[in-house]
Amino acid sequence: MHISMAQTVDDECDYLFKAVLVGDSGVGKSNLLSRFSGQDFRLDSKPTIGVEFTNRTVTIGDKLIKAQIWDTAGQERFRAITTSYYRGALGALLVYDITQRATFKNVERWLSELRQHTDPAMVVMLIGNKSDMEEQRAVGVEEGAGLAEKEDLLFIETSALKNMNVEDAFMHMISNIHEVISKRRLEARKKEAIIAASLASQFPASGRRLLIIDEVTATKRQNCCASW
Ligand code: GTP
Ligand code: MG
Repeated sequence: MHISMAQTVDDECDYLFKAVLVGDSGVGKSNLLSRFSGQDFRLDSKPTIGVEFTNRTVTIGDKLIKAQIWDTAGQERFRAITTSYYRGALGALLVYDITQRATFKNVERWLSELRQHTDPAMVVMLIGNKSDMEEQRAVGVEEGAGLAEKEDLLFIETSALKNMNVEDAFMHMISNIHEVISKRRLEARKKEAIIAASLASQFPASGRRLLIIDEVTATKRQNCCASW
C-alpha cells in the first residue's frame, strides 16, 4: 500500500490528513468524534451505519492541517464496507471500552485488519474510552499501556462523556502523522538532491533541467493542501 502524494486544490490548509476511527460497537467512537468536532455528547447515540466523516482544521507548528476523520461502524455486519475506507489513511484511533474486557481483547483483531489495509507507517493511537466509569473498570491502565508498547502504538485513556483527553488524543495523533510526513519529505528531498548531484557530475548540461523540475515542485507546494 502506498501513500498518495496527489495535490488537491484547497487554499485553506497546508495538508489534508485522513484518519479512521475503529473498534468494537458501543465503545464510544462516534461520541469521541462529536467532541472533537465541537458537538455535544449523546447518551442515546445510535450505532453508526457504514461510515461517516468529519473535517476539522487544526494548527500544528506553522502548518494548517485539515484532519478528515472517518468514523466507522463497529458492528460486524459492516466490516466489508468499512475496511474499504481504510485506504489512504495515515492515522487510526483504535478504541476500546475500559469497562468491557471483550472490546480490549478485540484490539489485536482490529490492529491486524488495519495493518492489512493501510500503510505500514500509519500512526495508531490506542484509546481506552469511558474512563469516567472507574467503578466498572475491567481493563487496567497499565494493560492498555503495555499493549501499546508491545505493538508500538500511542496510548491514552479518554472520557467522551466528561470530555477528558479527547482533544489530546486527536491532536497527538495528528502531530505524529505530521512528523512522519515531514521526515518522508526530507528523505525524498535528500534522495532528489543525491540524484541531481550525481546526474550533474555525469551530465553537466542537465543541471538546468533539474532546476526547472524543482521550481515546478516548489510552485505546487504553495498551492496548498497537499493530500498524502
Ligand atoms: P458503533 O457506531 O456501533 O460502532 O458504536 P460507537 O463506538 O460509535 O459508540 P457510540 O459513540 O455510539 O457510544 C455507545 C454508547 O456509549 C452510547 O450510549 C454513549 O452514550 C456511551 N458512551 C460513549 N462514550 C462514553 C464515555 O466516555 N463514557 C460513558 N459513560 N459512556 C460513553
Ligand atoms: Mg458509531
